[in-house]
Amino acid sequence: MDGAWKKKVSIRVNGVEHSREVEPRVLLVHFLRDAIGLTGTHTGCETSICGACTVMLNDTAVKSCTVLAVQADGADVLTIEGLAKGETLHPIQEAFWECHGLQCGYCTPGMILTTHQLLMRNPQPSEDEIRHALDGNLCRCTGYQHIVDSVQLAAKKMGRKAVRRRR
Ligand code: FES
Ligand code: FES
Repeated sequence: MDGAWKKKVSIRVNGVEHSREVEPRVLLVHFLRDAIGLTGTHTGCETSICGACTVMLNDTAVKSCTVLAVQADGADVLTIEGLAKGETLHPIQEAFWECHGLQCGYCTPGMILTTHQLLMRNPQPSEDEIRHALDGNLCRCTGYQHIVDSVQLAAKKMGRKAVRRRR
């Protein structure tokens, strides 16, 4: 009986609740890409090395190839599609754009979500702290310096935004 092997999960993704029947073996990255059609989260190694699949799960950056969809039942997930507000890019996205922090873009969603967690926890990271935070995200194109520059610019932009909000 087909239904016997599936479980209903409800996951809030970018503020929208998505309920689906899934097999217990389905990974969160496949739930996002295949079940609800958000293909901005990429799959690379599927062995927790590359970080292309990184999303925020209840405010913690996770590699979504290491999480089962059933483990995320009831959780809040933020993907790259949830960062921009309409046509307005998130400051981290703007910074990657302005500093040329990407070439092919395959690693970029994961880099940006990992940066999001870093700047939530440490709004003014040093270069060493940035490199350490990103060491679980691999990039085959950029040589990393432009990504580090992007994170530094994102920190400045988000700092300025926070100051404006306090005024
Ligand atoms: Fe998840 Fe590479 S696809 S870490
Ligand atoms: Fe191509 Fe990072 S920009 S893998």
